[in-house]
Amino acid sequence: TKVTSEPKSKSVSKGGPRIIVDDDDEDLSPTDLSEMLAEGTKESHDRAENCAFVKDFLRGRIKRELFKRGTAALYFVYSAMEEEIEKNKDHPHIAPIYFPVELHRREALARDLEYFYGEDWESQVSVSAGTKPYVDCIHKVGEKDPVLLVAHSYTRYMGDLSGGQILKKVAQRALKLPSTGEGLNFYQFEGIHSHKGFKQLYRSRMNELELDTETKQRIVDESNRAFGFNMMVFSELEEIGNTIKEEVQDVGHGHSHAEIMQGG
Ligand code: HEM
Repeated sequence: TKVTSEPKSKSVSKGGPRIIVDDDDEDLSPTDLSEMLAEGTKESHDRAENCAFVKDFLRGRIKRELFKRGTAALYFVYSAMEEEIEKNKDHPHIAPIYFPVELHRREALARDLEYFYGEDWESQVSVSAGTKPYVDCIHKVGEKDPVLLVAHSYTRYMGDLSGGQILKKVAQRALKLPSTGEGLNFYQFEGIHSHKGFKQLYRSRMNELELDTETKQRIVDESNRAFGFNMMVFSELEEIGNTIKEEVQDVGHGHSHAEIMQGG
């Protein structure tokens, strides 16, 4: 927290200089992309946080089968996103936010899928109907309008660096995953030591992109679209969850529930 004489948000000073307390370590203007995104996606974020699947997840009500399918969905989303980012890494609007070592999740997700599905995981997972429009959109954007990849990166990576740590703990407890982090590599950003610090760097990189107001607005719109695609994935998972019955939480101590009931 620092004290600054520059107002940070919309309330442009009318009554001369004043002191305001700024929670961030940077001075931001409402026309900065990071601010436009934070402000312009607030409602989407509220909706995402409050959808049934996410609420159940936060309460620790997550079935292993659903977590596996969710991990698979993310694998296809990040594969698409990172493939398109890679193709566009020299694009002037992408290069400043290109952080493959720090952010990229494809390999972490592949390791998680190997943990959940075994060595032949690739033959067991495929793009679901609820995930396909998201994946297709990312490829289309990467080919036709790469500046909008900023929106897709922002929506996922900034979210992962924010709420992700809570989700990791919830999943670890609910699914009784090993404390070694197996199955949860997705949530572990090995190349980032301070999530807060990295988010600040990422925001400042977004703000340094040379973009006119219209393009910034298109990026905000695309981020809201990305939130919508994420909600589609969640709804699909929620529906699948309603069709599969609660598993007996047998964490593999060598005896099935039935065996224990029969005396081992
Ligand atoms: C930011 C929590 C779901 C995307 C945040 C922040 C929190 C949070 C606490 C603020 C961090 C900060 O101020 O630095 C959660 C929780 C969720 C959730 C508890 C429910 C599980 C989602 C989803 C998405 C998402 C589903 C999109 C796929 C984002 C983004 C930001 C963010 C993009 C950055 C906002 C900004 O500063 O511009 N989240 N979130 N979140 N979250 Fe979430």
